[in-house]
Amino acid sequence: MNLILLGPPGAGKGTQAKMMIDRYRIPQISTGDILRASLKERTPLGLKAKEYMDKGLLVPDEVVIDIIKTRIKEDDCRNGYILDGFPRTVAQAQALDKVLAAMNSGIDHVISIEVDKGELIKRLTGRRTCRQCGRGYHVIFDPPVNKDLCDKCQGELYQRDDDNEDTVRNRLEVYDAQTFPLIQYYREKNLVRSIDGQGGIQQIFDRIIQVLS
Ligand code: AP5
Ligand code: MG
Repeated sequence: MNLILLGPPGAGKGTQAKMMIDRYRIPQISTGDILRASLKERTPLGLKAKEYMDKGLLVPDEVVIDIIKTRIKEDDCRNGYILDGFPRTVAQAQALDKVLAAMNSGIDHVISIEVDKGELIKRLTGRRTCRQCGRGYHVIFDPPVNKDLCDKCQGELYQRDDDNEDTVRNRLEVYDAQTFPLIQYYREKNLVRSIDGQGGIQQIFDRIIQVLS
C-alpha cells in the first residue's frame, strides 16, 4: 500500500506515521526527517536545506524529488510506504506521478489530516522530539515521563529550530499557498480520504485505520 500523509505542519503526520509503521509494516518516508539527518551529518545538502527550513520555506523541488526517487526504490519499500511531508507542491506531485508510472506503480490513498490553525500553533510550539529514535512528544498533550528523556529509548529530547512561533506562522502560510492546492489535485484523481485531525492521538489513528480498511 502506497500512502501519502497530507496535512499542515503540526497536523500529526509524523505521530500517526510512526504508529502506522507497526500496523502496516511499511516504512515512513519523511523528507523533513531526511533533510534534518543530512544537516546533522553536515552534508552540503543538509546545510543548504537549513537555510530554507529555518525560514519556514520549502527547499527547492528538485532537491526533494531526487531524494524520493532514490528512496522509494529501496528494498524496504517493496510492499509500500508512507510518504510524510512529500509531495508539498503540485510540481512535486507531478514528478512523483511520473516516477511511479515508470515503475508501473501508483498511490493508493492520500490521507488528508485536517486541524484548525490555532491548535496547530499550540502543537508545534510545544513539540519535543527524541534525538535518537525520532519519537515526538508534546509538553502538554503527550508529555514524556521525564521531561528531557524519551520514554522509549532514553534519548535526549530537543525542540526543532523551526518550531518557534514566527517560523511556525511562515510555515502555515507556505502550506496554504503551496501545499493546500494538492488536496484538489488528488481529489480529481479520487484519492483523498479526509480525516478529522482533532481529538486524541489514538482516536485519530483509529479513524485512519477505518478509512483504509
Ligand atoms: P517537516 O519536517 O515535514 O515538517 P512539517 O510538514 O512542517 O510538519 P511537522 O513535522 O511540523 O508536523 P507533523 O504533521 O509531522 O506533526 P507531529 O506529528 O510532529 O518539514 C520541515 C521543513 O523541511 C519544511 O518547512 C521544509 O523547509 C522542508 N521540507 C520537508 N519536506 C519538503 C518537501 N517535500 N518540499 C520542500 N521542502 C520540504 O505533531 C506535532 C505536535 O503535535 C507533536 O508535539 C505531537 O506530540 C502533537 N500531536 C500530534 N497529534 C496530536 C493530537 N491528536 N492532539 C494533540 N497533540 C498532538
Ligand atoms: Mg513531521
